[in-house]
Amino acid sequence: MTAWLIRGAAPYCSEPTDLLLRDGVIAEVGRGLAAPRGAHRLDAAGLVALPGLVDLHTHLREPGREDAETVETGSRAAALGGYTAVHAMANTDPVADTAGVVEQVWRLGREAGLVDVRPVGAVTAGLAGERLAELGAMADSAACVRVFSDDGRCVADAALMRRALEYVKAFDGVVAQHAEEPRLTAGAQMNEGAVAARLGLAGWPAAAEEAVIARDVLLAGHVGSRLHVCHVSTAGSVEILRWAKTKGTRVTAEVTPHHLLLTDELAETYDPVYKVNPPLRTAEDIAALRAGLADGTIDAVATDHAPHALEDKETEWGAARPGMLGLETALSVAVLTLVESGLMDWRGVADRMSVRPARIGGLVDAGRDLTEGEPASLVLVDPAARWPVDPAASASRSRNTPYAGRELPARVVATFRRGEPTVLDGKALR
Ligand code: DOR
Ligand code: ZN
Repeated sequence: MTAWLIRGAAPYCSEPTDLLLRDGVIAEVGRGLAAPRGAHRLDAAGLVALPGLVDLHTHLREPGREDAETVETGSRAAALGGYTAVHAMANTDPVADTAGVVEQVWRLGREAGLVDVRPVGAVTAGLAGERLAELGAMADSAACVRVFSDDGRCVADAALMRRALEYVKAFDGVVAQHAEEPRLTAGAQMNEGAVAARLGLAGWPAAAEEAVIARDVLLAGHVGSRLHVCHVSTAGSVEILRWAKTKGTRVTAEVTPHHLLLTDELAETYDPVYKVNPPLRTAEDIAALRAGLADGTIDAVATDHAPHALEDKETEWGAARPGMLGLETALSVAVLTLVESGLMDWRGVADRMSVRPARIGGLVDAGRDLTEGEPASLVLVDPAARWPVDPAASASRSRNTPYAGRELPARVVATFRRGEPTVLDGKALR
């Protein structure tokens, strides 16, 4: 393994320093480090260094919808976005509800060799919400599953949710809930509110999310297990989470970049690229989500990268699938909404996009500090860069980015995973 001397990078946007990566770890940190014989050099003047990002919520679509994304193409998009680990959601075809399927996804991730692909196991068999999947077998498998989710669907049955929470306690697993009371969102097309009323589209009320979160924090508190709430999207959800945390409940939560930036008014374009589940909400919700993230009520930014084939997205609003790409733009949107708004600093971004997600996912060699002896998984970002989002240039197999044509701040220049570059000069190495 070749050593890398990174010159003049600013960890968390602090004072610039050199970092020597050797044998997969950060061997030395300090100014004016000498390059060992044969070491590669990288001039990182003006670049910010952060620990490699960790995504808690990625849809890689393999097996089953390789036309929309594969483990390899999604891994490439992730590396280009600064990620060194992603959690691959279970709503594939077949569903990742057995040791066999999660091991297959894990192996495909190893073969792609760009990020650590951590499969998420389904909570219920076939995501059908009727009986628990083989949680223990998935935890014991080579994929070592710790996060379980029926994402895309809610575990709506309270007794089943309770049993899942009890079950994962044995191996310190976590149930990641897609909070959506299905009886309240039947036929829903967008956020319930003034815009939906104007457009005549069926609404998805905030209460459908909040009711499930309230129920589940009570259940998690009761059984003493870890609950994680996926893609929190409403101001009321933030309030419930804040209350639950003051009670000492073991609950964590994530928000997506799009819920930090985009509002339901975009539905007025009738462009299904803005259709997502949970739906885009209001400016008041966005303000509460940003504040909740800044004060730690929300633990993480997670992409909910949801690639869809053209025929599933470029159709009329009602028929389009919900979901947006996110891996290649997440850090930029976080910088725009959190750093440039003055709400958080770069260390805060590292905490919410690497440190805390790694802890929630049970990853021991990710989300670590940029200090000597720690794993050399890191991302170098140009904070001054501005770049126009071009869907055609995406490494994803899909094109459904809601940021097409927008200019975003901050660009990933290089990503290193355990001392090896996966991205250099903004280009994936494989
Ligand atoms: O918008 C979404 N897309 N929300 C989900 O919960 C699932 C996801 C998908 O799988 O496409
Ligand atoms: Zn979801």
